[in-house]
Amino acid sequence: MESVVESFEQPVVAFVQGASRGIGLGLTELLLRDEGVARVWASSRSPHRSDGLSRLRAEFGERLERVAMDVTDEAAIAEAARRVKDGSGELDLLLNVTGLLHDERLGMRPEKSLRDLDMTHMRRSFEVNAIGPALVIKHLHGLMRHGRRAVIANLSARVGSIGDNRLGGWYGYRASKAAQNQITRTASIELARRAPELLCVALHPGTVDTGLSEPFQQGVPEGKLFEVERAARQLLEVLDGLGPEHTGSFFDWAGEPVEW
Ligand SMILES: NC(=O)c1ccc[n+]([C@@H]2O[C@H](COP(=O)([O-])OP(=O)(O)OC[C@H]3O[C@@H](n4cnc5c(N)ncnc54)[C@H](OP(=O)(O)O)[C@@H]3O)[C@@H](O)[C@H]2O)c1
Repeated sequence: MESVVESFEQPVVAFVQGASRGIGLGLTELLLRDEGVARVWASSRSPHRSDGLSRLRAEFGERLERVAMDVTDEAAIAEAARRVKDGSGELDLLLNVTGLLHDERLGMRPEKSLRDLDMTHMRRSFEVNAIGPALVIKHLHGLMRHGRRAVIANLSARVGSIGDNRLGGWYGYRASKAAQNQITRTASIELARRAPELLCVALHPGTVDTGLSEPFQQGVPEGKLFEVERAARQLLEVLDGLGPEHTGSFFDWAGEPVEW
């Protein structure tokens, strides 16, 4: 199997934030199967309850470290950063994957119209999709390797693009992803001043067959609903092909730029 971390100095240490299922689990598995990767830190709210991560832990042992980290709890993020520092020292790759589109327990569905806007649901979207990933960068960027290639990638969504918005709807998700995009861009500028070889980018994975997209898969054109394994490979290949000149940009799964 071809390596997805060829552009990095090896062995690579990665952190996948939002790794218990969906695309994050796929990214974690692909990284663990790559001989260039020494260790993967995998977080979610309850990673020890994830069957997928338990299976990978049984197969890969201590190359996989599970960390409980709710991105809406800054103290938990700070504690996770301390664990990574003590356990691995530095990171080559940080994947901020967590995202929220709907939550049946909260009665939260993407809004079709202005009359559906709800303070609690919108606040939750911003906490999970924008503020949480920003705080993850706040606490983990100091662990990114200095003096050699390192990458921070935030999983965004094309529907977060303002320029591309022709359909409307999905206010909370769109707006929180647009906010996340601005954070990605702003962080990329600050980080490049201190570490020119540290990239910070936003990625659109395409429509991927996960719990997040499951209720909305009906209109997806034939061949455009990606299996998780394929989506994860595509994203890692895009990252592997990026250079310092690409920092602060937004790319889709095919490596094409997405307008902001
Ligand atoms: N699937 C698609 O078609 C699609 C399309 C465009 C963009 N995206 C983006 O791609 C990313 C991954 O999506 P996905 O489809 O893989 O989603 P998913 O299957 O719903 O998985 C979401 C992950 O986020 C974790 N998570 C949720 N809330 C969290 C919190 N408060 N703190 C920490 N972790 C939390 C979940 O773990 P726990 O529940 O265990 O905490 C899970 O591992 C998201 O950013 C999404 O917006 C997806």
